Amino acid sequence: MIGVVPASIDDLQRRLRSERYIADRGLATSVFLALKLQRPILLEGEAGVGKTEVAKVLASVLGTNLIRLQCYEGLDISHAVYEWNYPRQLLEIRLMEATGALGNDRGPAANHLFGDEFLIKRPLLQALESDGGPPPVLLIDELDRADEEFEGFLLELLSDFQVTIPETGTIRATQPPVVVLTSNRTRELHDALKRRCLYYWIEYPDYTKELEIITTRVPTAGVELAEQVAAFVQELRRAELYKAAGVSETLDWVTALVALDKRELDAETINQTLGIVLKNQEDIQSVRGERVQEMLNRAKHAGT
Ligand SMILES: Nc1ncnc2c1ncn2[C@@H]1O[C@H](COP(=O)(O)OP(=O)(O)OP(=O)(O)O)[C@@H](O)[C@H]1O
Ligand SMILES: [Mg+2]
Repeated sequence: MIGVVPASIDDLQRRLRSERYIADRGLATSVFLALKLQRPILLEGEAGVGKTEVAKVLASVLGTNLIRLQCYEGLDISHAVYEWNYPRQLLEIRLMEATGALGNDRGPAANHLFGDEFLIKRPLLQALESDGGPPPVLLIDELDRADEEFEGFLLELLSDFQVTIPETGTIRATQPPVVVLTSNRTRELHDALKRRCLYYWIEYPDYTKELEIITTRVPTAGVELAEQVAAFVQELRRAELYKAAGVSETLDWVTALVALDKRELDAETINQTLGIVLKNQEDIQSVRGERVQEMLNRAKHAGT
């Protein structure tokens, strides 16, 4: 791990930025500490605020691999950790029978059949194995979607960084991976899991941060357009809608406006492209027209 950790919070913030990720001081501090203390970091926040991206960008910053486990309901050990390749094992047994290699002593055959070549390694096992390089970044994405039993299993894994495979033994990480967990908070995660992790809640960005994200991610957008979009999205988030716009929506919107050769926002264009920023029909209906005009006036005023 030594030599991989950025020298300071500033250094980390700079390196994240050079990978086109804008992290405020709070986030950079938490990530820095997670690296320094070798603790997992749990990132929570609304959809599209840049949780998953932290892990991706961190892998680039550290010059290491990203191993991603996408969680979903029903996710189990065979998809998260390992699974024996039964069809291949069966085929091998047939071959051994046919060639007479399956002798009376079953020991060597069993050893062979439960060897590495028949083991399907899923993300969590991959993350424990080292190729001699820097430890990977292990992204456990959207953990709130997985069942609570899986969370319990994860708890063990995160404390020992080891997995026991009954047929072969225990595999222990020589260097623990850098673990980033994310949750959209559709349910509360267990306290025990939270206790193992550093925690950071990623807020929707303020105007300045979002403007920076826009100019970094969509450099083809004109300054005026970028400023107006950043201000308009702030207005939208204040509008108490059913589903607020995330950073991903902002970026999609700017990209679309650039594709339409827009250099400035106007009410007609906003009304026509609202579906890119807002993904809920009631929300779109409630702002389209008069409210768009009001928000645009305020946004233009804020930008000057
Ligand atoms: N601070 C940021 N700097 C640069 N890009 C950002 C930032 N925040 C978000 N983005 C961009 O916004 C998009 C959405 O980010 P990401 O997928 O990480 O969000 P998320 O919080 O994981 O969302 P979800 O909960 O829907 O999975 C990505 O394209 C990412 O590049
Ligand atoms: Mg995500």
